Amino acid sequence: MRNFEILILYLLILCFHTGSLKTCRIKEIKKKIVADCTRIGLHDIPKYLPLNLSELDLSYNDIALLKNNTFERFGVLEILKIDNMNLDIIEPEAFYGLTRLRWLSMKENTFDISSISFRRLFKPLSSLYHLDIRYNLHKFFITPTIEYPFFGDLLDLKDLYMDLAQKPVFNSSGFELLHKLHTIRFEKCYLDQMLNDTLLYLPSSITALQLYKCGSFIPIVESGFLKPFPALMELNMIDTNIKLADALKLLFPFTGKEMTSIIYERIKGSAKQPAFITREMVKYLIEICVHTLVLAQSEIVGYETNSLLAFKYPQCLENLVFTGNRFSLAYGQHLTELIVFAKKTTNLKFFDLSYNAINFNNVKYCNIDALRNDSFRNETYSNGCEIQPTNARTFQNSNLRYSKITEESNMTVSMPVNLTFLRLSHYMTSYMQYGLNFFLKNSSSLRYLDISYLKVSYFPEIYSVTPFNIKYLDFTGVSSMLFIHKSSVPIFQNIKTAILKDSLIDETIRKNGNVFKLFPTVEKFDISFNNVLYLDDDSFYSIQD
Ligand SMILES: *[C@@H]1O[C@H](CO)[C@@H](O)[C@H](O)[C@H]1NC(C)=O
Ligand SMILES: *[C@@H]1O[C@H](CO)[C@@H](O)[C@H](O)[C@H]1NC(C)=O
Ligand SMILES: *[C@@H]1O[C@H](CO)[C@@H](O)[C@H](O)[C@H]1NC(C)=O
Ligand SMILES: *[C@@H]1O[C@H](CO)[C@@H](O)[C@H](O)[C@H]1NC(C)=O
Ligand SMILES: *[C@@H]1O[C@H](CO)[C@@H](O)[C@H](O)[C@H]1NC(C)=O
Ligand SMILES: *[C@@H]1O[C@H](CO)[C@@H](O)[C@H](O)[C@H]1NC(C)=O
Ligand SMILES: *[C@@H]1O[C@H](CO)[C@@H](O)[C@H](O)[C@H]1NC(C)=O
Ligand SMILES: *[C@@H]1O[C@H](CO)[C@@H](O)[C@H](O)[C@H]1NC(C)=O
Ligand SMILES: *[C@@H]1O[C@H](CO)[C@@H](O)[C@H](O)[C@H]1NC(C)=O
Repeated sequence: MRNFEILILYLLILCFHTGSLKTCRIKEIKKKIVADCTRIGLHDIPKYLPLNLSELDLSYNDIALLKNNTFERFGVLEILKIDNMNLDIIEPEAFYGLTRLRWLSMKENTFDISSISFRRLFKPLSSLYHLDIRYNLHKFFITPTIEYPFFGDLLDLKDLYMDLAQKPVFNSSGFELLHKLHTIRFEKCYLDQMLNDTLLYLPSSITALQLYKCGSFIPIVESGFLKPFPALMELNMIDTNIKLADALKLLFPFTGKEMTSIIYERIKGSAKQPAFITREMVKYLIEICVHTLVLAQSEIVGYETNSLLAFKYPQCLENLVFTGNRFSLAYGQHLTELIVFAKKTTNLKFFDLSYNAINFNNVKYCNIDALRNDSFRNETYSNGCEIQPTNARTFQNSNLRYSKITEESNMTVSMPVNLTFLRLSHYMTSYMQYGLNFFLKNSSSLRYLDISYLKVSYFPEIYSVTPFNIKYLDFTGVSSMLFIHKSSVPIFQNIKTAILKDSLIDETIRKNGNVFKLFPTVEKFDISFNNVLYLDDDSFYSIQD
């Protein structure tokens, strides 16, 4: 060791010496003893810990070595967390005795999972159902070929989180023995090709596969890559550097099947290649009965007629998200397609086309998983479905023109009957070149409407055949003069939360009079960034009633 390093080490030892005056926090929760030993500068496992611990968290310390039988004395341990400890060497029998352990997390360390001592490390853990060994493949000592350890003793294993090496070898890991394994998450991925046999040895019981952060561009992708997973219901691919066409090709094994979700986010190929969707590209996708489909931030710039919306089972769709691309969904002849599509997607509840037509840096998503939770869903009607940016004033409105009714431009649009959430935030398009009167049908399920920072050249007049029952409305950044007029009264009638930030309310009040009376049931109003300095005494008269 060089002198400099010795000095650093010495200083570290000093720090940890003072730090280690702190002790583990031991609590009893529901008759179980829990020890929280995080961030107290430990170099070893404290001797004073009670032997009847159920949960032990040693994360964020500096324990580089785990010797044989380290945990043997903790016979009833169920949860062990040893994340981020600079853990380097684990002796082969370190986990000896942990037969009741259900949860083991050892992410962000520096050990070598392909070493001999790792091979049978998990042998004693016969009750384990959750294993997390992510962030342990480090670029500087990673070899292209990594042989994964033996998991075949973990007969109860349900979730496995790990990294994916450039050339992973799974053929002697005993995966064929793991019938309960449902979820595999590859957090960091170094693959340079996705071949038919890359994941061949993983168990066919997998129902959820998450493939994240394949950082370098993967030029070779074969359509049988996911074939080992005939039972797959959830596929998440995020920040993976393959061409969108290739990502869609991977759906080949699932044609004609039902899937809970296909989530593709930030699939950008090399150097943000624009992706124009053709029928050929989506030929597998449109044959799948998929309930949640996300194709977000993937540089989609347009789509061919009879491609993106040509689902064979449109009634399967419940959540559809195209957030953060660069296309107008209803441009030109696509408008007709969209109208037909809306009629057929009878179970669509959530639709999100936000942040489109130009690139946005700060794309925000709605938490669609949480929307399944009844009380969260109710909560979104007052607080929104995402964390709202605190500084909402990102760009100015003003060049919008309000469309005067032109007699010949009446248009009837039938909404998906079950559509509850419609999000068109930061959507910019110029396709509407003239004023339109929209007559909406089947809009009675709509509860949540976010058109903040929507930019269209003409804002249509909106009428509905059935009464509106919108609870949450966000018109931030859209001039209120566009929609504060007599045809909009029914739209606002049941609103509980109205977000009208940065929407020229002051000017509207001057020209159109009291805006607030249009919202008779509102409970929460946000009109910040509007230069509204004073309100008349009776501004909220009808609200207080
Ligand atoms: C754990 O052991 C201690 C002493 O060893 C005992 O006082 C305590 O009751 C035990 N707690 C549980 C939940 O078993
Ligand atoms: C730990 O156990 C392994 C395998 O049982 C053995 O080969 C090794 O020598 C042991 N290590 C020590 C330090 O005793
Ligand atoms: C597993 O794969 C590696 C690399 O492809 C190969 O060298 C080895 O022979 C295979 N082992 C078994 C047991 O199939
Ligand atoms: C990979 O699998 C696909 C789908 O089963 C098949 O069409 C293709 O020929 C396979 N490629 C190779 C190189 O075997
Ligand atoms: C709308 O949703 C409800 C409940 O989720 C469902 O019972 C109904 O069948 C759906 N409507 C249509 C037309 O599919
Ligand atoms: C959600 O709100 C509806 C209507 O206000 C109410 O009937 C329902 O009980 C609420 N659900 C939950 C879980 O709070
Ligand atoms: C449902 O949402 C509520 C409110 O956000 C939250 O407190 C609760 O924990 C959630 N329930 C489940 C099962 O996720
Ligand atoms: C369009 O709708 C308006 C409002 O209902 C109506 O007055 C007008 O006659 C309609 N125009 C045509 C061409 O149908
Ligand atoms: C959609 O609206 C039309 C006209 O209002 C109505 O006849 C039809 O029944 C509605 N469809 C559904 C599924 O509610």
